[in-house]
Amino acid sequence: MGNNKVLTSILLVIYLSQYGYVSTTSSDNVDVDEGADGVCGAQGEMSMSSSSLLRMAELEERIAQLEETVVKKYPEVKFLTYQDRKRILITGGAGFVGSHLVDRLMLQGHEVSVADNFFTGRKRNVEQWMGHENFELINHDIVNPLYIEVDEIYHLASPASPPHYMHNPVKTIKTNTMGTINMLGLGKRVRAKVLIASTSEVYGDPEVHPQGEEYWGHVNPIGPRACYDEGKRVAEALSYAYQKQEKVDVRVARIFNTYGPRMHMNDGRVVSNFILQSLQNQTIKIYGTGTQTRSFQYVSDLVDGLIALMNSNYTQPINIGNPEEHTIQEFAVMIRDLVGGTKSEIEHVSPVEDDPQKRRPDITRAKKELGWEPVVPLRVGLEKTIAYFRKELQRSSHSERNIFHPTQHNYHDTDNVIRIVKKGG
Ligand SMILES: NC(=O)c1ccc[n+]([C@@H]2O[C@H](COP(=O)([O-])OP(=O)(O)OC[C@H]3O[C@@H](n4cnc5c(N)ncnc54)[C@H](O)[C@@H]3O)[C@@H](O)[C@H]2O)c1
Repeated sequence: MGNNKVLTSILLVIYLSQYGYVSTTSSDNVDVDEGADGVCGAQGEMSMSSSSLLRMAELEERIAQLEETVVKKYPEVKFLTYQDRKRILITGGAGFVGSHLVDRLMLQGHEVSVADNFFTGRKRNVEQWMGHENFELINHDIVNPLYIEVDEIYHLASPASPPHYMHNPVKTIKTNTMGTINMLGLGKRVRAKVLIASTSEVYGDPEVHPQGEEYWGHVNPIGPRACYDEGKRVAEALSYAYQKQEKVDVRVARIFNTYGPRMHMNDGRVVSNFILQSLQNQTIKIYGTGTQTRSFQYVSDLVDGLIALMNSNYTQPINIGNPEEHTIQEFAVMIRDLVGGTKSEIEHVSPVEDDPQKRRPDITRAKKELGWEPVVPLRVGLEKTIAYFRKELQRSSHSERNIFHPTQHNYHDTDNVIRIVKKGG
């Protein structure tokens, strides 16, 4: 008898005994008449001893305890009909951006598969969905082909921060070239739309400011960042080659610097560095003069932009970023103030090779074609990120969880901000 049947029988016996349908005898046997369909014959008399009842009660308690450990509660996902529900593959879905995209698409009611080799991603970024019938996690390196039936592919797999992508430059190039070929090949085979996560790094150290999509870039092809910058440029070139030659329906998102909860603690980027240094009362290190600029977008804005792009008919590259620009010095001071109560000093150290001096997206195209623009104020996003990092630092054992729940983005933070700019407006 399966576990459920045992449980049903026990519960039935206990229930019936309350109403006098089960008589207790001196025998230790429980006479439960099981019909051909496996359901107890309630009409036949059942008898059991008081010790059996006691044992059953103990068993019932034990089962309830076990159920508590295995029954998992998931965030409520929307119900979509068969026609509306899409099968979506997210490569790199266990990483920082990918995991937030997983959350949003799962909440929308789609079936989401993640393919990740866990180089920089972590299972715990998506643990909230493990076991959900709409979710699947595949341990897969996209340098190898993947055979799966899907309607859409968000291709995000690639290390994104300089220490990670410089760690194994050859692998970074393989992931962005061979991995992209594999995903475009899959898109061709199953006729899925493919969205490539490109980057503002395709503009290199830009000579135009702000950077619009028509700008071809200023990239050093043999510098330390080339494995990533050139890898992404090839990924873009491949996308349009597959579009032209194989009629693959492609989307290319040029993503600008993004921050938020679940960022890797050691990703070596400005936001995570400054937050960690401030939280730990360490010196905040600025590479160079600090007059170089960056524009940071909060991760939920990026996720909105990626989904809007996938759902649009626009196939040319499109910048997804926040045009609010600050110097690195300003970021350091702002983050130190938001962390509060820190003794961190700001120190300037030697500049990094090929570090772009100015970075700010021109998002006219995204506004016009997607009706998208970022809405989360820098201060709000930074506070959420600092809270996440603070909890992360407080962890001292594996069982202490620091889970950023999918609903914590609290999108209504931004309810009073108009997200949809009228198309063409
Ligand atoms: N975060 C940003 O500021 C930013 C900016 C521009 C572009 N992007 C792009 O967005 C995407 C996601 O970036 P992120 O910040 O989430 O980075 P991340 O490092 O957190 O996530 C990347 C994910 O890809 C996985 N991965 C790497 N190589 C793989 C391989 N060969 N096979 C399978 N999985 C692999 C990693 O394990 C990780 O889960 C990347 O393509 C990145 O280039 C990010």
